[in-house]
Amino acid sequence: MTSDLPFNELSIKNLKDQDIDGVMSFFRKFTGRDLLEKRLGDSVRKYPCCIIFANAEIIGFSYTNRFAPDILELSNIFVHPEFRSHGIGGMMLKRIEKESLKGGYTGLILVNSLLYDNRSDKRFATNFYVKNGYLEIVRTESSKVFFKSLA
Ligand SMILES: CC(C)(COP(=O)(O)OP(=O)(O)OC[C@H]1O[C@@H](n2cnc3c(N)ncnc32)[C@H](O)[C@@H]1OP(=O)(O)O)[C@@H](O)C(=O)NCCC(=O)NCCS
Repeated sequence: MTSDLPFNELSIKNLKDQDIDGVMSFFRKFTGRDLLEKRLGDSVRKYPCCIIFANAEIIGFSYTNRFAPDILELSNIFVHPEFRSHGIGGMMLKRIEKESLKGGYTGLILVNSLLYDNRSDKRFATNFYVKNGYLEIVRTESSKVFFKSLA
């Protein structure tokens, strides 16, 4: 973690039921979109997920859902725009991977699609996933599927 971040207290935790409303409005504020609350709720109850706070404010979250009995889908990972490129996304990804492995899962799959968002600044997060060891396994014009084996 770099030291030039505009906060001094960073904490990363498991996402809990009581965080759901906060996460929903945090995501809506920056994207204008609503998360699927049921998917988020399922993740909170059954699968690896995390939330990160700076000075008690949400600055990022990530959660997973079941893709196959031994594979999880990274359903979403999102960092507050002003806090990007400081290692926060990478920190959440590592935590999710560790928890997934502990839960007996052998891989993580995800779709990175430009079509989920109609803001003009949406771009592929290819570099982020590649530098974290993910392999691009298929792509269309507007979507890419990545996989990482945890074994
Ligand atoms: C992708 C994302 C989670 C990375 O979080 P982060 O805290 O910036 O991650 P890290 O600091 O660990 O890694 C930074 C890398 O992420 C990538 N990145 C940064 N901002 C990005 C953005 N707006 N969109 C896509 N990728 C981005 C860059 O490759 C960057 O590397 P660089 O700093 O060397 O250029 C974050 O940028 C984000 O929330 N983007 C918007 C939502 C999104 O695209 N989520 C992925 C959907 S599958």
